Amino acid sequence: MSKETNRRDFIGYSFAAVAAVGGAASLVGMKQAWDPLPSVLAGGFTEIDLSTVKAGTPETFVWRGKPIFILKKTAEMENSTRDLKIGEDRFTVAIGLCTHLGCIPAWKKDTWKCACHGGEFNASGKQTFGPPPRPLDLPPFEVKGTTIVLGNEGPEYKDIAAAMMA
Ligand code: FES
Repeated sequence: MSKETNRRDFIGYSFAAVAAVGGAASLVGMKQAWDPLPSVLAGGFTEIDLSTVKAGTPETFVWRGKPIFILKKTAEMENSTRDLKIGEDRFTVAIGLCTHLGCIPAWKKDTWKCACHGGEFNASGKQTFGPPPRPLDLPPFEVKGTTIVLGNEGPEYKDIAAAMMA
């Protein structure tokens, strides 16, 4: 009897082990199916370390397929309610698409110039010439130390967005 019992126990344990491995594999598969694809994660949030941006020359990043202009302002550049202040530094953060018909303006000396119809935006992203009807748009962002996370609406973003509406 004990031999038979041992055999049954062995079969029972084996079945339980196979079921446990199968269950774990299923959970891993389900988690992979639930998790967003890496491309979706990359498209949703973009982190930019502003401490590496040099003053006076904007850098262009990509967020959700759109160009994002980040300009660290020089002391000579105008103050604006749109400035993102981090410590002593001031930044212009803008979606790099012309607010007329969506071309990508290019930085020339101290102005973003749109080659499509001659629109111009100053260092604060404000339209100063031509057909653009409004300043460069503000992407949602959150500040974490010297880094901004594009895609999250932090308090700094809300303050600047409210100032732009005023
Ligand atoms: S698209 Fe830029 S001025 Fe028309």
